[in-house]
Amino acid sequence: MAGYMTAKQQVSGSEEYVSEMTGSARFMAAAHRRPVDRTPVWFMRQAGRCLPEYRALRQRHDFLTVARTPELAVEASLMPVDRLGVDGAVLFADIMLPLEGMGVEFEIKPGVGPVIAHPIRTAEDIERIRVVDPEEGTPYVLEAIRLLRRELGERAAALGFAGAPFTLACYLIDGRPTKEYPLAKSMMIGEPELWHALMTKLTDITIRYLKGQIAAGADVVQLFDSWLGLLGPKEFGEFVLPYTSRIFAELQGLAPTIHFSTGTVQLLSQIRDAGSDMVSVDWRLPIGEAWQRLDFRTGIQGNLDPSIILAPWEAVRANVDAILADVGGRQGHIFNLGHGILPQTDPDQLARIVDHVHASSNRLAT
Ligand code: CP3
Repeated sequence: MAGYMTAKQQVSGSEEYVSEMTGSARFMAAAHRRPVDRTPVWFMRQAGRCLPEYRALRQRHDFLTVARTPELAVEASLMPVDRLGVDGAVLFADIMLPLEGMGVEFEIKPGVGPVIAHPIRTAEDIERIRVVDPEEGTPYVLEAIRLLRRELGERAAALGFAGAPFTLACYLIDGRPTKEYPLAKSMMIGEPELWHALMTKLTDITIRYLKGQIAAGADVVQLFDSWLGLLGPKEFGEFVLPYTSRIFAELQGLAPTIHFSTGTVQLLSQIRDAGSDMVSVDWRLPIGEAWQRLDFRTGIQGNLDPSIILAPWEAVRANVDAILADVGGRQGHIFNLGHGILPQTDPDQLARIVDHVHASSNRLAT
C-alpha cells in the first residue's frame, strides 16, 4: 500500500504522499525537490572506467570513436543502467568534445588525459576560437542524446553535461593535466583582459551546447567544474562566478541544472548564488553541513568518497547509511559520489550501493 509517510518525511515537513516511481520519475522529482518513493542514485563516471563490458567495447574502438559514434556512445551510456540499476544515465561523451567545433585540436592520451596541440596563450589564440552551435560543432553529441532518450524510456533520466568555462580554460591554457594549472591562473591574475575574453567565448559556447542538449532530449544537465577547488573566494567571485551565473540564468526553466565541483568548501555560499537547481558536493564536509551552508536553497547531490568503495562492503554500507541519515529524508537529494568512480572499482560494490540506497530510503509502506 503506497502513501504512508515515514518519520523522516515528517521531520522534514513533507505532507505529500508518494507511490512507486520509475527511475526517470524518481530522478526528476528529486531534481525538482519534490517527494520521491526512494532516493535516486547515479555515479559520476559510471559509463566507462570500471565496467568490463566497457573495456571490451574499448578493445574494439578508441575513446574518441566511441564518443563520436552515437550508437556506440549510447551503448556505453546504457551499460550502467542495465548492470547497476541507476536512476540516471549520463551521456557517454567528454568535456573536451566541444573543442572540435571551436577549432582547437586535442587528443586524449592514455594514462595522461586531454592534451591540447597548441595551447591558448595569446590574444590571437583567443580571437581564433570559433563560437559555433552544437548542430555544427558536435552534431554526434545531439544525435546520441536523441537516441539515448528514446532507448531509455522511463528507466532512467538522461543526463547531459558540459565542462565549465573555468575547467576548460585550465586545460586550454596549460595544455595538459597538471596539479595547479599555473599558466591558467597567471593569465587570470596577470592578463585579466585575455582571461575575460576567453571566458566570454567559452561561456557563449557552453550555453549553446547545453541548450542544444536539452532540446535534443537531455532531462537534466550537469556543469562539471572539476578544478574550481584551486580558487579562493576572491578569484572565484571576480574571474569565474559571473560566467557560471550567466550559464545557469540562461538555462533557467529549460531543465534542472546540477553544478559540480570538488574541494570547494570555501566557495559554497558563492556556489549557492550561482543559480543552479542542484549542487554536487564532495566528502570534505558531511552532506548535511554542506547543505546547511547552501542554506537549503538548492537541492544537493553527493557525497560518497569514491575511495571508500574499495573498502569491504560493511564499511561502504556504514558510510552510505551515514549520508542518508544526515540528509534525513529532506527533499531534493540525489545520491552520488563526491567525484568520479575510480577505475579499479568493483562494479558489484556499485550495484550493492544502488540496491542499498533504494531499499533503505524506501518511503513506501510495506
Ligand atoms: O560515466 C561518465 O561520466 C562518462 C562520460 C564522461 C567522460 N568524461 C568519459 C571519459 C564524463 C562525464 C567525463 C567528464 C570529464 N572529462 C571531466 C569532469 C569530471 C571529472 O572527473 O572531474 C574531466 C575533467 C574530463 C577530462 C578527461 N577526459 C580526463 C582527465 C580524461 C583522462 C582519463 C580519465 O578517465 O579521467 C578523459 C578521458 C575520458 N573521458 C575517458 C572516459 C571514459 C577515458 C578514456 C578511455 O576510455 O580510454
